[in-house]
Amino acid sequence: MTDASILLHRGTAVVAARLRAGCGGAGTGLRPLPRHARYPARGAQRRVPLDRQVRKESTMSTDASTQPRTPVTPRSGEEGGPVGREIRLVARPTGEPGPENFELVRSAVPALRPNQILVRNTWMSVDPYMRGRMDDRKSYIRPFRLGAALEGGAVGEVVSSQVDGIPVGASVSHFLGWREYAVLDGADATVVDTTIAPVEAYLGVLGMPGLTAYVALTDTAPVRPGDVVFVSSAAGAVGTVAGQLARKLGAATVIGSAGGPEKARRLVDDFGFDAAIDYRAGSVASQLAAVAPGGIDVYLDNVGGDHLVAALGALHVGGRVALVGAISTYNATAPVPGPANLSLAVSKRLTLRGMLVTDHLKRFPEYIALATGWLADGTLRSETTVVEGIEQAPAAFLGMLRGANTGKMLVRLGD
Ligand SMILES: NC(=O)c1ccc[n+]([C@@H]2O[C@H](COP(=O)([O-])OP(=O)(O)OC[C@H]3O[C@@H](n4cnc5c(N)ncnc54)[C@H](OP(=O)(O)O)[C@@H]3O)[C@@H](O)[C@H]2O)c1
Repeated sequence: MTDASILLHRGTAVVAARLRAGCGGAGTGLRPLPRHARYPARGAQRRVPLDRQVRKESTMSTDASTQPRTPVTPRSGEEGGPVGREIRLVARPTGEPGPENFELVRSAVPALRPNQILVRNTWMSVDPYMRGRMDDRKSYIRPFRLGAALEGGAVGEVVSSQVDGIPVGASVSHFLGWREYAVLDGADATVVDTTIAPVEAYLGVLGMPGLTAYVALTDTAPVRPGDVVFVSSAAGAVGTVAGQLARKLGAATVIGSAGGPEKARRLVDDFGFDAAIDYRAGSVASQLAAVAPGGIDVYLDNVGGDHLVAALGALHVGGRVALVGAISTYNATAPVPGPANLSLAVSKRLTLRGMLVTDHLKRFPEYIALATGWLADGTLRSETTVVEGIEQAPAAFLGMLRGANTGKMLVRLGD
């Protein structure tokens, strides 16, 4: 199925009016819910062409029109156990991944053991770090296993529970995405409060991307009042939150970089950036110099490569860089050289600090309390790009790597 369109929704996250001021509870500080709450309405739908689909020789048809999108309960397998669909990694990519790296299969859902829950996943996340996990190399997180279902952030509804405190009907977040049904230990799930935000928000603005932006700009490269702040991949999940947070933290000028004129326009018109660069339109360094002639104080680097080179050139003495990601290098097939102008870090006495959000999970309650307030008062805008159905999850992932998303790229698996 080439040149097909997949259905995308774009919408601003709506927060329930019954927002509560804070969030208590263990781990992430999110409060258990007695029952599953329905999501608020989303915005307009649109079709966006993506040229990559899961491969046809997978064990199930990838034509969504011929598939029940999400069974209400797991269907029975040959031996009577429940069956769900999942996406497996079947080949490691060299360079840019493609549909041939994935396979959609039906798989028996394991029986529940004590202290486990069965979750019907309703949303799953596709994230840039997953590209690294497709390679078989040592990193901060283990590689995906060949022939096994991929993993990643997901949210869903508990449909069976052997865990005190996680009732059937609760909404939970966890890390067994890329499948319709997940069996996991209760300790590996977090009950989320869907009365303060739609459940999918916990994969985006109230999840890892939001916390990443918050930690990067309050701890890794703290923004000070009056700063000029530059954010790359600014129209994405981390970037859209980061630009708005920079302003809240007192930045005088916030500049974003994104691919294409429409994204650049939206950074200014919809996400409150003062200026935007379309990095595909020409040199990042010269465009940054044009919009920040006096230089910059803080750079949140999601991209690496020419963006980091440009930022090093533009930073003031004493400038700060949060090294959050380097997506321009993730498909590289040979070692990527560092920025040719790195020695500027010496002469300008710059601070370049790497960060991993997983080191900062304790700050979730603090961040969520703030972010839910900002969402409720309309001063934090959150956007998602939604792809429908597990069979489209690889296309969503590949599309995200190429910039098909504005805000957080999500896959909706069911209601
Ligand atoms: N350190 C951490 O703990 C942590 C946590 C979360 C995310 N991250 C990192 O943060 C970055 C953003 O993650 P995200 O989840 O928010 O993803 P995202 O920005 O929502 O999506 C990825 C975006 O990368 C951009 N992109 C792809 N290739 C590019 C290139 N060659 N040059 C410039 N931009 C390119 C695309 O946007 P355009 O259309 O603008 O090209 C695409 O939409 C990634 O590097 C990710 O690895 C790090």
